[in-house]
Order: sequence, then structure tokens, then C-alpha cells
Amino acid sequence: MFPERNVPLQACNSFGIVAKARTLVRVREAADLQAVLADPLLGPAPKFVLGGGSNIVLTGDVKSLVLKVEVPGRRLVEETPRAWVVEAGAGENWHDFVTWTLDQGWPGLENLALIPGTVGASPVQNIGAYGVELQDRFESLDAIDLTTGQLFTLDAAQCGFGYRDSVFKHASSAPYGLGLAGRALILRVRFALPKPWKPVLGYLDLERKMHESGIDAPDARQIYDWVCAVRRAKLPDPRQIGNAGSFFKNPTVTLEQCADIIGRDPHVVHYPMPDGSVKLAAGWLIDACGWKGKTMGHAGVYEKQALVLVNRGGATGGEVVTLARAIQTSVYERFGIRLEPEPVVV
Ligand code: EPU
Repeated sequence: MFPERNVPLQACNSFGIVAKARTLVRVREAADLQAVLADPLLGPAPKFVLGGGSNIVLTGDVKSLVLKVEVPGRRLVEETPRAWVVEAGAGENWHDFVTWTLDQGWPGLENLALIPGTVGASPVQNIGAYGVELQDRFESLDAIDLTTGQLFTLDAAQCGFGYRDSVFKHASSAPYGLGLAGRALILRVRFALPKPWKPVLGYLDLERKMHESGIDAPDARQIYDWVCAVRRAKLPDPRQIGNAGSFFKNPTVTLEQCADIIGRDPHVVHYPMPDGSVKLAAGWLIDACGWKGKTMGHAGVYEKQALVLVNRGGATGGEVVTLARAIQTSVYERFGIRLEPEPVVV
């Protein structure tokens, strides 16, 4: 365990915002955190867990002790008649892990290809794309308590997954349950990839690809290639244009609210949910308010997808937050909907 001082974080956040960590410790195994906790100076310090940095907006230097998760490793835990159970260290790059599972002949994560970030961050916001959410493939995870250094394991039910949500996003004081926000560091995640493999193709963009290619029974590698192509066409590559993927969650409204919004604009993109509620496309709402391609300061709204805010070069976290607030205000004024940001503002 080596504390580093004044570490630049620009390369550690996908927005590419310039900021520093006053003190940073790289966590490669549980013992690194246990050593931090045993240290008289670092032990009691407030802590901030940094994964791939693909879901944060840094608004200044981070004063808390930054724990940069770098736990390596990936392996097949077991193969049963019903699933391949595969494990990865929290520090592994998510997309590389997905690619590796396919290379090994263990399909199931192909719809989640090319999502930026690390394996350890994937359960925190229950990443999802093209009809698959992490919770559909999740088996369990190992984590460590940031106060006591104790190791523990959680199954899917204990993770409390929801749409872009889990127990790791809620404070312990939140009603209905024991939130783990700021209280745990995820070390390893296990996935159960069901056998026999079944393709998930319901999403419009994938149906379009099937139609264009004439392939009606794609294998997992084909779906992976399609997902990569769709994402590359719609979403900016954070290595070229700083961004944090979708900046807002797609809001859920009641049928009555949806009818009211349709009254204001009949073209609103909406999806009825199994529980009777309706999900609205936040990207469409933002687009309808005229934000696509706009710039404020050094932050902007991506030209091809209004749900993605981008760093036009040299943006501060404050500029990103100001832009996000302006978008929230205009969507609220026009549609009466409060958009909820996905990334964590630090
Ligand atoms: N739309 C517009 N204008 C826009 C953007 C979108 O009219 O500028 C419309 C689209 O035409 C479409 C609808 O809104 O009819 C939905 O857009 P899209 O299919 O691109 O998906 P999304 O709702 O914007 C969600 C996830 C993405 C995920 C895709 C694919 C959220 C917040 N976002 O995006 O996740 O990749 O579906 O499953 O749920 C992420 O979380 O970072 C992310 C990229």
C-alpha cells in the first residue's frame, strides 16, 4: 500500500475533466484496503472509491482519500448444466472482459459490449443495454467494508438491483433497506451465463441490423459486432470526446402523466412497462427542447444523441453541471418532468 500525492485524475475519468486526488491508494487486493484502515492517518479519512471513472463528474480536486480499484483477474469458476459461472476482478476493463468471455466460448454478455468502465462499477448502476441488464447475468460479488475491512459476499437479491440502481447507490439512512453508498468497495464480481444460450434481439436497433443483414439466427459474436457498431454510430468514444454515456435516466411516469405529455407533443417516445407505468426516452425530451448539438462554456450536448453530454475540450465539472441544470429546467418547463442525472457529481 503506497499512498500517492497530488495524482492527476484527467485520465481516470471518462469526461476527461482536469482534477487531482490529494491522496490516492491503488487497491489491488483486500490487504491494500486493510493496510489503509490500519494506518493512523489514512484509516479515519473520508474515502472515495474510483473505478473506471465513467460515471462521475469531478467538480474540483478530490479531498477524500481516493481508492483506485485495480483488482485484476478473470476465471471460470464452474460450469454447470445450467450456466458458466465466470468471475472477474473489479479493476478489469468491462468491455475487455465481455470480449474475453466470448473468446472463451461463454456467450451471454454480448448485448453489454462496449460499455465504458470497469467490472467493479458494473453492479453499482446495474448497467444495461439492448435488452439486457447486468442483473440478468449476475451471480454474486465480493466486497470489503470501508470501515471495518471485513469481507462479505452479496447475491442478486442483496444487491437490490433496479433500473440503473443498486444498494451501492443508496445511503444507509435511506428508507427501506441498508444502503451501501460510500461504505463498501467491490473486489470481484461473478456472472452466471445461462445455458443453453439464447439471443436477446428485441431491441429496435438490433432488429434493424437483422433486417439489413438478412441474418435471422445470429450467434453471440454477431450480436456483439452489431452492438459495437450501433454504439460506435450513436455514442462518442470517451477516448476521443470526453463523456459519461447517458447523462440522465429515462424517467418513468404514470399513464395519466404520459397522456398529459402526449397532449403537449404527440410524438413523445414512450414505452409501456409491465407494471403499468410508462418509460419516456429522456434523449427525445432533451432533443425536443432543442438541445442537441448545443454548447455552454466548454460542455455540450452530443450531436447524435441528446442524452449524452460531452466535454468539448477543457470543460470543468462545474460547466457540465451548469449545462445539465439548464437542460433539466427546460425539460421541466416544457414537459413537467424532472430528469434525474445518472453520473455521480463529486
Ligand atoms: N431519441 C431522440 N433524440 C435523441 C436521442 C434519442 O429522439 O437525441 C429517441 C430515439 O430515436 C429513440 C429513443 O429516443 O426512439 C431512445 O433512444 P436510444 O434507443 O438511443 O436509447 P436511450 O434510451 O437513449 C438507453 C440507455 C443506454 C443504452 C441504450 C440501448 C438509459 C439512460 N440509456 O438509451 O445506456 O445503451 O438504451 O439499450 O437507459 C448509458 O447508460 O450510459 C447508456 C448509454
